[in-house]
Amino acid sequence: MTQERPVVVTGCSSGIGRAVVRHLLGREHTVYATARDIGSIGDLASDGARILPVDLTDAGAMRECVRHVEARHGAVWGLVNNAGYALTGPVEELDMDQVRQQFEVNVFGHITMTQLVLPGMRRRGEGRIVNISSVASRFTLPGGGCYHASKHALASFGDALRYEVSPFGVRVSAIEPAVVRTRFIVTAVRLLTARGPGTGAYASFRDALADCYARVQRTPYRYGAVSADKVARAVGRVLASDSPGPRHVVGAAARLTVGLRWLLPGPLFDAVVRARFPVPRQEGRS
Ligand SMILES: NC(=O)c1ccc[n+]([C@@H]2O[C@H](COP(=O)([O-])OP(=O)(O)OC[C@H]3O[C@@H](n4cnc5c(N)ncnc54)[C@H](OP(=O)(O)O)[C@@H]3O)[C@@H](O)[C@H]2O)c1
Repeated sequence: MTQERPVVVTGCSSGIGRAVVRHLLGREHTVYATARDIGSIGDLASDGARILPVDLTDAGAMRECVRHVEARHGAVWGLVNNAGYALTGPVEELDMDQVRQQFEVNVFGHITMTQLVLPGMRRRGEGRIVNISSVASRFTLPGGGCYHASKHALASFGDALRYEVSPFGVRVSAIEPAVVRTRFIVTAVRLLTARGPGTGAYASFRDALADCYARVQRTPYRYGAVSADKVARAVGRVLASDSPGPRHVVGAAARLTVGLRWLLPGPLFDAVVRARFPVPRQEGRS
């Protein structure tokens, strides 16, 4: 058994998870890349990562992943809770099964992985948990109720955990980007438009939301989007630090948004959001 610093990353089939794995390879870590379909991460194995199947809705797969790493290294040293997606749409029309699924992946899956790795980290007397959160954990946009709620929940659980596990040498940090150039928005638009063109009271709102997301996907630089590599470097810095800070806002657009949220009184922030983002309009009223 080797006393290395094994790091487990969830959601490595694309985007930030994949970039984090590539960034950590060759840096004093044994990197465990995980995905629902390990066929999607075969190239990471060729590059030196060890690959394991993990679906964040499958408790057995999560247990088996941690057991596998502990059998070889004694304990997981680092966990990057990354996998996630955005369910968007007007609150009144959200499908509750989809809402539960959103929380299964974005919140409960991360809590489960965290609970599984903590006994080993405490035994070892050190560890790092990095939650890929978002500026979405600091405020909420119209149409984003479900996704933002999941990121607020992840932030709260991470904050509590930070106090609870630091006496055992375990550090907990959140990474908070704004828009990142990944397929994240494509998935969000696919989910939003799956029920076809908008009908009913929120028809034009749904269409406007989909247009807004598509615009961000088409012209990411206008929205200050950062690369997945930039987020991966922030994760790398947190893992390399002996005393990483609690929350790391990544990118100028993310810092500006968080700054505005702090500076502007609530009603003024609301007015900015209403002016800049789609909101429902009652048909027939001006
Ligand atoms: N992109 C952004 O603008 C942005 C901004 C702030 C924060 N974030 C956060 O960054 C994280 C990564 O997103 P990304 O931008 O890299 O998006 P992405 O490219 O769409 O990657 C999402 C990853 O999550 C995985 N995933 C989804 N459901 C899963 C499940 N049940 N079990 C295990 N893995 C699952 C996906 O795997 P499959 O291939 O199997 O679907 C994929 O690997 C998310 O937590 C997201 O909230 C993203």
